[in-house]
This record gives sequence, C-alpha cells and structure tokens, in this order.
Amino acid sequence: MQYLNYEVQNEIGLLTINRPNALNALNSQVIAELSEQVKEIADSSLRCLVITGAGSKAFVAGADIAEMKDLAAQQAQDFSEEGNQVMKQIEALPMPVIAAVNGYALGGGCELALSCDLRICSENAVFGLPEVGLGILPGYGGIQRLVRVAGLSQAMEMAFTARNIIAGEALSIGLVSQVIPAEELMEKVMKMAERIAANAPAGVRAVKKVAQASIGLSIEDTYLLESELFGKCFLTADQEEGMSAFLEKRKHAPYTGQKKM
Ligand code: CAA
Repeated sequence: MQYLNYEVQNEIGLLTINRPNALNALNSQVIAELSEQVKEIADSSLRCLVITGAGSKAFVAGADIAEMKDLAAQQAQDFSEEGNQVMKQIEALPMPVIAAVNGYALGGGCELALSCDLRICSENAVFGLPEVGLGILPGYGGIQRLVRVAGLSQAMEMAFTARNIIAGEALSIGLVSQVIPAEELMEKVMKMAERIAANAPAGVRAVKKVAQASIGLSIEDTYLLESELFGKCFLTADQEEGMSAFLEKRKHAPYTGQKKM
C-alpha cells in the first residue's frame, strides 16, 4: 500500500492514512487502497479498528482537489460513488470503528470520520464541510451522516455556510464524543479500543448492528433483530463464562468469541 499503514496488535487494528504532504487528502489511489484494506478487515476477527491520519496537522483534509478539478460530470459522479462505496464499507464493518481525529477533518475527511462509529478528536482538530465554497457539495455521504449525528439544522448550517468548527463546538453538537490534548490522543483512543476489545465480541458486534438498524429499520423490527442477536449470544462460550464468573464472584477469563462446546 502506498498511502496506508495498517498494523494489528492484540486484535486492535490501527489504520493510518499516510499522505502527509497533501494533508492526507483522499485521491483515487487512497480510496482504492482503503477499499482493499477494509475488505480484508471485514473478514477478520478484529475486535476494534482505529482510523487516523499521519502527521500532527491533519486527519484528512478532504478529497483531492487537484485530482477533481478537471473531471467531467460523469467522472465526478464516479469519483463520488467510489468514495461513497468505501465510506459504506467502513460503516458496515462488523467491529466498532473509532476515528482518532488528529487535526483537520474537512470535506471528505469529515465524511470519513462520520462513517466511523465514534469520533474522538484532539484539541487542535477542525471539522467542516467546505464543499459549497468549491462549487460542489459533500460527495461522500457527509450530509446524510451528519444529519443523523448532529441533527438537520446543525448539518445544514455547516454544509450551507462551509464554516469550519473547532473541537469544542464539534463536541457541543455531538459530532465527537471526546476532546483530548493532542499529545494524549492516540494513547486515550487505544485505551478505549482495548476496553472495547476486552468485552465479548458477539455482544459488541450485536450492539453495533442494533444501533445501526435503529436508524433504518422500524422500531418493531429492531426489537426483533435485538432478540435474535440476544439469543445468538447464548451460543457463545463468552456468555457462559461471563455469567458464571459473575455468579461465582470471580473475574471472567478473557473472552474468545468462540462457540460453546
Ligand atoms: N486536496 C488536495 N491537496 C490538498 C488538500 C486537498 N483537499 N488539502 C490540502 N492539500 C495540500 C495543499 O495543496 C498543499 O500542497 P502543496 O504543499 O503542494 O502546496 C498541502 O496539502 C498543505 O496544505 P496547505 O499549504 O493549504 O496547508 P495550510 O496549513 O495552509 O492549510 C487547510 C490547511 C486549511 C486544511 C487547507 O489545506 C485547506 O483548506 N485544504 C482544503 C480543504 C478542503 O476544501 N477540503 C474539501 C475538499 S472537497 C471534498 O472533500 C469533496 C467531497 O466531499 C468528496
């Protein structure tokens, strides 16, 4: 991979967009590499994935403006569809995904962060959807996801005005769940990932499915899904061990994600 670093430790993946000279802007090559890497992650037993940007200045400063500038309309539509596809792949990953936003998250960068389940940012992070200032609109699903995360009026205000917001405001509108001093960001995010990874994977993955379904499905259908997944947890050794440990007043053994014998 030319623009991605990917490492796994203790079933936690760290995926870094590594194109710091262009503030990690998403060109077609980055998008293609992301698609390939995310496909591989989807089939893995990873407990949690963290996505961040290389360097101290940017998470991702958007889709690559130099590459987009001379696109014909159909090429631009394809460019948007390819990016959208990757954002959907990330969103659909079965394990929790945390965006560690370490600086600018503008345009496609904000949209990439929004395709993750959680966003934790450094104090120097800046978010925005500057696209209308460039003569276009956000093209990687940012409006739809921001509406769901922060509400219709906050999303439309950000997208209509193309105004950047800093970390504190992002926290106040619910775009991020925590703001951390820059030098502590990765340590704190990895600690959260470890905490998630220590929980029973069937339960964690089921939480993600039900939370996401609660946006698209009727509430009745989400109750059905929830009960089905609740039942499936009882196929796992982790459920047996977790409940036995509680009743025996001891610490549970590490969860394995294995089926009951
Ligand atoms: N695309 C291509 N190159 C980019 C880029 C982008 N989105 N963002 C930054 N760069 C490049 C700059 O061109 C510059 O390259 P050179 O050194 O070769 O000149 C390098 O990264 C460093 O950037 P700056 O010199 O501009 O750094 P700065 O500190 O002065 O400013 C910034 C930082 C405010 C983030 C500024 O770079 C900026 O405004 N970037 C563009 C942000 C933007 O508009 N993003 C939305 C893109 S459109 C989009 O994403 C569409 C979509 O939804 C699919």
